[in-house]
Amino acid sequence: MADIPVFKPLIGPDEIAAATESLEMGWLGMGSYVAEFEKRMADVINAPDRHVAAVSTGTAALHVALLVAGVGEGDEVIVSAFNCSADYQAISWVGADIVFCDCDDETLELDIAKAEELVSERTKAIIIMDYDCIISDYDKVETFANKHNLRVIHDACHSFGSSWNGKMVGSYSDICVFSFDPVKTITCLDGGGIVVRTEEELKYVRELRLLGMQQPSEVMYQNKRAWTFDVERVGFRYHLLNLHAAIGIKQIEKLDDIRSSRQEASKHYSAKLKNVPNVRTPNASFEEVNPFLYYIRVPKDSRDELRDYLKERGIDTGIHWQPGHWFSLWKDCRKGDLSVTDTVGDEILSLPLHSMMALETVDAVCDAVSDFFTNER
Ligand SMILES: Cc1ncc(COP(=O)(O)O)c(C=O)c1O
Repeated sequence: MADIPVFKPLIGPDEIAAATESLEMGWLGMGSYVAEFEKRMADVINAPDRHVAAVSTGTAALHVALLVAGVGEGDEVIVSAFNCSADYQAISWVGADIVFCDCDDETLELDIAKAEELVSERTKAIIIMDYDCIISDYDKVETFANKHNLRVIHDACHSFGSSWNGKMVGSYSDICVFSFDPVKTITCLDGGGIVVRTEEELKYVRELRLLGMQQPSEVMYQNKRAWTFDVERVGFRYHLLNLHAAIGIKQIEKLDDIRSSRQEASKHYSAKLKNVPNVRTPNASFEEVNPFLYYIRVPKDSRDELRDYLKERGIDTGIHWQPGHWFSLWKDCRKGDLSVTDTVGDEILSLPLHSMMALETVDAVCDAVSDFFTNER
């Protein structure tokens, strides 16, 4: 492992004790810890008019979200070509067609003006995604979605614990999904969350996440099993386990410290890197967000060399992401002009960002990046 990895989990004695307790209680499946985790998620989101369900991964949450949105065979979903492949897979799972839209050069969010040119008779939904420290402008998205009668799936897998215009992410969008995977700011080892608007949608989500069973989650939340129930629809095995929820609860308890430490590290990065030649830092204040990554953009022809230079100094880097239309599976999907995405895909680079990261570690990374671009090598 590199001396300074890109991601570093924050698992301490609290999480280990909670995991042990959940294993020793004799109920390994979805149970009381999951109920508690959902309550904690809802407290963070602070949206009394919304309903929250825990699922097994962010990808499962996206799949379920598309089904709740009524997306299926023959429909089209507009999605940024600069997104995680999980989103594209989920669209494929429901039998819909991906339509790739460009992202904005400054914010990296889906470019709504370009999405206007992609709407067709078959368009059913749009997926927007908050990339790291910049939260999508939901006012613009809502106006667009209302105009074309589309459902919105807000991929907030990077932004649990962030807010936008004073509102917590998860509290204002049509359907919102979160990830609590191994590298996220809050982890359940693996886990996901979905936020919906109505009781009916919540009931649908609960059936979809556990084999279509109309078995009240409330029974399982008491670590009990309901033996008789009906099944009316196809469902999946997407429920969260007590073990994962127990860890997630402990992580949420640390959210304030996690968020402020990541904000501080990100601000420190930007202050140190903003005048380094060839380095473009995020246009973000980091005030309202719980940053997942710290990314920079560097000229295409120096990125690989920079990655090698940092690696030799024990500093790991990542690429989030290769654009969707670069993959063989999705290269023939309908798309608009993707010139910004193509540039971003060549330039984007993730630097190490950890919860409780020491500023000296940030300094070491910045010094190495700065040396690469400013000193004779
Ligand atoms: C933007 C985005 N969407 C979806 C996912 C999928 O989440 P998970 O890994 O929990 O399935 C990720 C995971 O990295 C992501 O970054």
